[in-house]
Amino acid sequence: MLKRNPFIYLFGLILLLAGCVKQDKANSVADPVKSKSKVIIKAVNPKADQKLVSAGKVIYEQNCIFCHQADAIGKPGFAPSLTNQEFLSVASDYFLKSTIRDGRVGTGMPPFAHLGKADIEGLVAYLRSHAKLPNISARVDAEPHTQGDGRLGQVWFEEICASCHGPQGDGYSAGGTGTAIGKIGFLGKASDGFIRETIKNGRSNTRMRGFSGPAAMAALSARDIDDIIAYLRTVPSK
Ligand code: HEC
Ligand code: HEC
Repeated sequence: MLKRNPFIYLFGLILLLAGCVKQDKANSVADPVKSKSKVIIKAVNPKADQKLVSAGKVIYEQNCIFCHQADAIGKPGFAPSLTNQEFLSVASDYFLKSTIRDGRVGTGMPPFAHLGKADIEGLVAYLRSHAKLPNISARVDAEPHTQGDGRLGQVWFEEICASCHGPQGDGYSAGGTGTAIGKIGFLGKASDGFIRETIKNGRSNTRMRGFSGPAAMAALSARDIDDIIAYLRTVPSK
């Protein structure tokens, strides 16, 4: 009978160990991603807000649904989507609350100050309950102000933005599908970072497709985008 070679056992053990190490490595690569997405889901949909969300839904259906539609998906050329993922991720609570409270002068968005603070908070909670992306509004609002050249921005604006947003950003009243981004109702509440991210990434499932990356309507550099923001900042004072 052949005597078993102890080295065969040793070899087997080494193979086994190597397999374990490999497995461990694979797990450790996958883990941070897993735990990160868990954290995000928790932060976006805190359970404690469920009551506020249901109250907000009722207020939404009484006051907003006619224009912004069921589930706030919006209607092109009539009212924007309020449950759009990119929109919710860059819009701060301040932006949402003050836009609802003050409306947008010279557009179809009426002011809702009469609803009061608690109802407006309910509306914001209801809108936020549709969010799947993390809320990055604090980082976006802290971005630096544009240092762009408004004269160059005006050329871009007239060439590629005016067809949807109207000349000087007048919005739907000019017959396009884009909102009144040249009016004070929007510019008075939106930070340069908010505008920058929106131009860059667009808003999925709307006609605002974004101006960087492979799905872009046209490729604009970071500098071009800042030139456009500088132009927009000069518009409402005209
Ligand atoms: C093909 C049409 C189209 C073009 C071209 C377009 N947009 Fe838009 N844009 C939209 C629509 C539509 C929305 C609102 C999305 C919705 O209806 O839900 C929007 C939203 C925006 C918003 C957010 C406004 C708000 O009310 O919160 C900004 C900022 C913006 N666009 C900037 C630009 C700029 C700058 C350009 C040119 C570089 C541009 N857009 C080109 C259609 C367009
Ligand atoms: C009579 C129609 C109408 C009603 C009712 C209405 N809205 Fe609007 N809303 C609009 C229009 C039009 C705009 C875009 C204005 C523009 O061109 O800038 C808008 C814009 C907004 C915006 C800014 C969205 C963005 O993309 O920046 C928010 C937030 C908003 N509405 C919330 C509400 C809420 C909440 C209610 C209910 C309390 C409501 N609106 C009721 C017509 C309406």
